[in-house]
Amino acid sequence: MSLTAEHPQAKAPSAPTRGEMTQTALLLELEQVVETNLNRHLSAAKEWFPHSYVPWSQGADFDGPLGGTAWDVSQSRLNDTARTALILNLLTEDNLPSYHHEIAALYGRDGAWGTWVHRWTAEEGRHSIAIRDYLLTTRAVDPVELERARMTHMGAGYISPHTHHVLNSLAYVSFQELATRISHRNTGAYSGDKLCDQLLQKVANDENLHMVFYRNLLAAGFELSPDQAMRAVLDVVRGFQMPGAGVENFGRKSVQIAVAGIYNLRIHRDEVLAPVLRNVRAFERTDLGPAGEQAREELAGIMDELGAAACRFEEKLAARKAREQARGAVEA
Ligand SMILES: [Fe+2]
Ligand SMILES: [Fe+2]
Repeated sequence: MSLTAEHPQAKAPSAPTRGEMTQTALLLELEQVVETNLNRHLSAAKEWFPHSYVPWSQGADFDGPLGGTAWDVSQSRLNDTARTALILNLLTEDNLPSYHHEIAALYGRDGAWGTWVHRWTAEEGRHSIAIRDYLLTTRAVDPVELERARMTHMGAGYISPHTHHVLNSLAYVSFQELATRISHRNTGAYSGDKLCDQLLQKVANDENLHMVFYRNLLAAGFELSPDQAMRAVLDVVRGFQMPGAGVENFGRKSVQIAVAGIYNLRIHRDEVLAPVLRNVRAFERTDLGPAGEQAREELAGIMDELGAAACRFEEKLAARKAREQARGAVEA
């Protein structure tokens, strides 16, 4: 890759403190690792076709120019929570142009980084194509509401808080790809619809390979500059937000999804943060300086807080279920 004066990293806002690698140096040092992992990815990824996962025979024209039937909720075989999760997952995938812009600006469009950026974008593009086709063909969601939500969400765009920081960005996408994998997989299982589950498992497989790519890069970042990498992980874990956080009514939607066990604090801590931290040996490293040690201590504190918050959520949920069951018994 060419890292010339006009490379975006040349405009990175913060100068490295003493002993830290510059953003440009990190990108250059990691390029060989990118190439190795790109090749690993290309040999592991299996070609698949979104159209073959969509039950086209179940489709019918909608009202409008074609004079078909208007959508009605009675046509959907999914419950409200499954619809909410699928819409949130799809809108998140829809914002791909913004994500592409963010990673192309940071990693560049040349060499192995560039090849990865374009390949990743092409694979991600498959996800919204497949999910939208499935939802519209099976009349699972209101197509007008879905399109309006897409316009609003994409109209706002997405700006990464890690635009100028290679290690922060790698930490973020490692967690985010794993979070997306789990969210798709759990949505499919929750939906109770075999076709939905089959499609989302396929999408989740892609997300898993993306996670492995970024996580291996993050691990390499730890080898290059352990203190800097630990600080980056701490910053990302502390302020983590899913890329779909800008979707309208995200708060209400995420509570619904949390209660259903599709994605909540427990899953975030135990199935997303912890496995990545284990893989990069965040809590076992012996190569940290004082700054890295301090960041690790703070990180351990945040993991404990998240664990406690997850317990509180589970207790509340159990109490709520018990109340509902008691009410059901009285009514019966
Ligand atoms: Fe995706
Ligand atoms: Fe992905």
